[in-house]
Amino acid sequence: MRIYELSPRLQSVADLVPEGARLADVGTDHAYLPVWLILQGMIDGAVVSDLRQGPLDRARQNAAHYEVSDKLSFRLCDGLRGVQPHEADTVTIAGMGGETIANILSESPWVGLGSCRLILQPMTAQEFLRCWLSRHGYTIEREVLTQEGRTLYCTFLVRAGQMPPLSPAECWAGRQYPGMDAPLRSLYLERLVHRADRALDGIRRSTKPEDMSRAADLERVAAGLSAMKKEWEAWQR
Ligand SMILES: C[S@@+](CC[C@H](N)C(=O)[O-])C[C@H]1O[C@@H](n2cnc3c(N)ncnc32)[C@H](O)[C@@H]1O
Repeated sequence: MRIYELSPRLQSVADLVPEGARLADVGTDHAYLPVWLILQGMIDGAVVSDLRQGPLDRARQNAAHYEVSDKLSFRLCDGLRGVQPHEADTVTIAGMGGETIANILSESPWVGLGSCRLILQPMTAQEFLRCWLSRHGYTIEREVLTQEGRTLYCTFLVRAGQMPPLSPAECWAGRQYPGMDAPLRSLYLERLVHRADRALDGIRRSTKPEDMSRAADLERVAAGLSAMKKEWEAWQR
């Protein structure tokens, strides 16, 4: 049977799953990721969860089509609530907003206690999730950028353990260091600087008192991002 290819976005998640992982894929929808990993012989099986019946049915159909139904355990539940700690040493959560991902982790604190590998791909609110992780005893070990069309996706490899605090600009862009292998980082920083500048323009026109302090915060972020961009460019020379 011909095996499908993963999209670049999902491939970047798959690349971070170690061979032989005991995987829990949260918000699995069609289960493309775990079924592909099983077909590649990368993992023996997985627990797959989804909040809604329709997506979980799609996961069942895909698994049946590729004759791997017996290798998946399907859970209709919110986040990891239906998954026991001994069932997974690797958790993937992709295709959701950063706030939803943070909620899922806070509802199942066992993922932050042991050596569980978390592979998180927030579609939105990446800055919120970075900040949340650093304040809740997690370390972002690695970030991978992937491009699909015009969109840049960011995938975090995370484990339990306190990381040094992130600056406001690092919450937006992630930490950078010389020699870091990140060919898309220039573009990522350019877009973030543009986004922060646009947000600042908007907020400076506002007459609401609460926007005064937001403007000061955003100014710090915008200045920090510009400095990170210059630093990154200097490292590339
Ligand atoms: C856009 S799909 C992503 C599918 C796949 N993970 C991917 O990245 O291609 C998001 C899926 O997450 C599910 N979902 C949203 N919130 C969830 C939660 N709290 N717990 C479990 N699943 C959730 C949705 O029902 C939907 O099927």
